[in-house]
Amino acid sequence: MFLPPPWKIKMVEPIRLLSEDERGQAMKAAGFNTFLLDSKDVYIDLLTDSGTSAMSDYQWAGIMLGDEAYAGSRNFYNLTEAVKDVYGMPLLVPTHQGRGAEHLVSRVLVKPGQYVASNMYFTTSRVHVEETGGIWKDVIVEEAHDPQSEFPFKGNIDTEKLSRFIQEKGKDAIAFLRIEANCNMAGGQPFSMENVKAVFSLAKEHGIHVVMDATRALENAYFIKIRDSAFKNTPIRDILKEMMKYVDTIIVSSKKDNLVNIGGFLATRDNRLFEETRNLVVTYEGLHTYGGMSGRDMEALARGIREMVSDDRHAEHRVRQVERFGMLLHAAGVPIVVPIGGHAVYLDAKRFLPHIPQNQYPAQALTAAIYEKTGVRSMERGIVSAGRDPKTGEEHKPNLELVRLTIPRRVYTDDHLAFAANGIIELFKKKDDIAGLRMVYEPTQLRFFQARFEPLA
Ligand code: F0G
Repeated sequence: MFLPPPWKIKMVEPIRLLSEDERGQAMKAAGFNTFLLDSKDVYIDLLTDSGTSAMSDYQWAGIMLGDEAYAGSRNFYNLTEAVKDVYGMPLLVPTHQGRGAEHLVSRVLVKPGQYVASNMYFTTSRVHVEETGGIWKDVIVEEAHDPQSEFPFKGNIDTEKLSRFIQEKGKDAIAFLRIEANCNMAGGQPFSMENVKAVFSLAKEHGIHVVMDATRALENAYFIKIRDSAFKNTPIRDILKEMMKYVDTIIVSSKKDNLVNIGGFLATRDNRLFEETRNLVVTYEGLHTYGGMSGRDMEALARGIREMVSDDRHAEHRVRQVERFGMLLHAAGVPIVVPIGGHAVYLDAKRFLPHIPQNQYPAQALTAAIYEKTGVRSMERGIVSAGRDPKTGEEHKPNLELVRLTIPRRVYTDDHLAFAANGIIELFKKKDDIAGLRMVYEPTQLRFFQARFEPLA
């Protein structure tokens, strides 16, 4: 059954489509990197679902109730209660956004030379571990590396691989285990409840701390509801809370599930981690009762956290809108990652542009071509995002060479997405005209944000 949005539109923001010529000039000026485009030149912005949500009237009303005291803002206590109620985590450290939380957790838990084993890396998560001298290890199931595998829980950790890794390195060499909900770099793919349970029990056997990146845990909970029959009658809020039982700590970028434009936190049951991160937060983020957020930000966040679980139709509509968009592309034969992810549709650039070798950045070239052809902004998630090995300086060569078309929450209608799909389907028919790229500027950190390119043809 087609589910219309469980909201209606109260305020609008004009957008405009430049001519194809103007788009070509804008892309060139941006060094063929969609991160360097001006948003005024973008028609439909599918760069990210991060900080791009539309807030509700109730959240906006909360903005007016900001208590901007330096210390002990009442909004901080509202946020603490919301995190306790919805995530079941008693101890909260607020941060300016997700990477602030990643920084603090890495500083406290990682000693130089130690490993962090995870389903799959996220760019900022790995960089913080490496900055503290840690070594990242992906232990995701093999199916995740195959964009055509229909496996329903491609975000699962391979417990065999993990177990062998713990045996081989010894528990003291492992700083923490990380399991990311709706694993972003794998294509927005969920883990199963069984998997997180198994990972937790393995970790506890060895006394290893488990951190969940719960940035998109709501969307993961929705997938558990529809893909695991044991949960088909369980409200999503209960599934979410159960997921949280099998980890010690969560880090959250609130710019996604939590429906706000800025904010984040870490929350834990571990007193020592709480105390140490709370000591550090005052150096790097702000006082422990605001962590870089204003009082009004914290109020909008507290309300967003409650709102996301207040009605199952919110998560259902959100994920199914992404799915409808993906199905338009899939039905037209455009190669995408299946199953369709929770927050984004990922184009498989290796199959879209088989004539461009990975060292000519096919996914990056595809993001540029999509913008020029359609005015839609997307993001590279392939070799450029994967960066270099900090020891050898060699480029990581991920099996997945993807373009992410990320859907902001409650922002675009199905008509916008149909327009984007049609443009990409037209481009696919002329894919042989797309040429590879050469990188002409490469930043040392998280290069994908600011790198510049030139076309090879
Ligand atoms: N963890 C995950 C899984 C993320 O997707 C992100 C950000 C972060 C942590 C970092 O959080 O941006 O608030 O500092 N992802 C954005 C994206 C940037 O576009 O996927 P942040």
